[in-house]
Amino acid sequence: MKKVMFTETVLRDANQSLIATRLPYAEFEKILPEMDKAGYYSVECWGGAVFDSCLRYLNEDPWERLRKIRKAMPHSKLQMLLRGQNLLGYKHYPDEIVRMFVAKSVENGIDVIRIFDALNDLRNLEVAVSEGIKRGATVSGAISYTQSPVHTIEAFAKLAKSLENMGVATICIKDMAGVMSPQEAFELVTAIKKSVRLPIILHTHCTTGLAFMTCLKAVEAGADVIDTATSCFSGGTSQPATETLNYALKQLGYETGLNDAVAKNVNDFFKPLRDKYIAEGLLDPKMMATDTDALNYKIPGGMLSNLVAQLKQQNAMDKFEAVLLETPKVREELGYPPLVTPMSQMVGVQAASNVLMGERYKNISKEVKAYCMGEYGTPPAPIHPEVLKKVLGNDKPIAGRYADSLAPVFEETKKQLSGIAKSDEDILSYVLFPQVAEKYFAARKAKEEKIVRYTITPIKE
Ligand code: CO
Repeated sequence: MKKVMFTETVLRDANQSLIATRLPYAEFEKILPEMDKAGYYSVECWGGAVFDSCLRYLNEDPWERLRKIRKAMPHSKLQMLLRGQNLLGYKHYPDEIVRMFVAKSVENGIDVIRIFDALNDLRNLEVAVSEGIKRGATVSGAISYTQSPVHTIEAFAKLAKSLENMGVATICIKDMAGVMSPQEAFELVTAIKKSVRLPIILHTHCTTGLAFMTCLKAVEAGADVIDTATSCFSGGTSQPATETLNYALKQLGYETGLNDAVAKNVNDFFKPLRDKYIAEGLLDPKMMATDTDALNYKIPGGMLSNLVAQLKQQNAMDKFEAVLLETPKVREELGYPPLVTPMSQMVGVQAASNVLMGERYKNISKEVKAYCMGEYGTPPAPIHPEVLKKVLGNDKPIAGRYADSLAPVFEETKKQLSGIAKSDEDILSYVLFPQVAEKYFAARKAKEEKIVRYTITPIKE
């Protein structure tokens, strides 16, 4: 029998794409034992923006969240998304930190690590991939899918082959913008199947309305796993619905391993939460609708919702269309980076600034400057010379792999955090997000002191 399985994304990507990753652990805790029985290929629950959001907005220790999920879901494969040498932050970290972070992720409960680099620069994947394999994780090598004159099917198939040679267990095609059409998926999966012997996973978003058809054609071409979200958290900038694809694929003769009754219970649990977030204004119903503009602008869901938030905050929603038009121009000038974190932020902020300032490249973020210096890796195509000149002035781009120039920081940070950090995990949190982690540690301490003050010291056994 033909087989295909699902990766459920409600806890990570659906959460991130629809409600800016603001789902607190306490609100989904009760459904975890049920989700554990669903028969998913994996549960994507960590990484991406979850880590940052836990510390920054939810006053949660992301490591503790992972350990709790692990405990509540002993039978499921827990999956995280990792941005290669950027880990879960927005810059490159030294190899030492990458290795420790991957090791600690596995130690705290991660089974599957999906690793990608926004530029598909393999030098940014190799350390995380090798450490993940060493620690016994199932490492999925992800291809950042995007469309441009330099992103051809042949180039992607070659990339898949290189990832296979690095030792990854699966290949994921990651279409963060939801712009991959059914025909493109069919051709791409077919080409990658010819080039490698590994299972193929398709990750896409419903933004443009293509995703259900795209998943179906990918499965027809031999994709082994597709990313889906429980139906009430599906659609729009999120993934296609788990139950819907399960229904359709089973009828087409595929065995999915999904327990229908459990999948329904999962959806029944999340439905009132979705309604609450809509009522509170956290979930903009616009995010759940189909927007074919992305087929022209190639803007991923998360980036669109960030742009809306940014423009709303500056009372500049009237410039939304102009920013949408500016975005692909900036992208082309910067050498067609795929619009995924951190490039999506860089390109989005630059495009917004170009429009709001009334002059292009008047304001240049330090991230865009670092990108032009080559600190993020090699852009897919050369950066336009006039933009490069404007951004760098007389500075020259670096040669070689940027992370090679980064000195270890762990021991030094450990000393600096003595009395504050309680674990190596705390130190890693701090290395990734110094100010945010510091604020979190202070809040944690205040909370603990309060608890100590109001509770009776327990009697030792
Ligand atoms: Co995604």
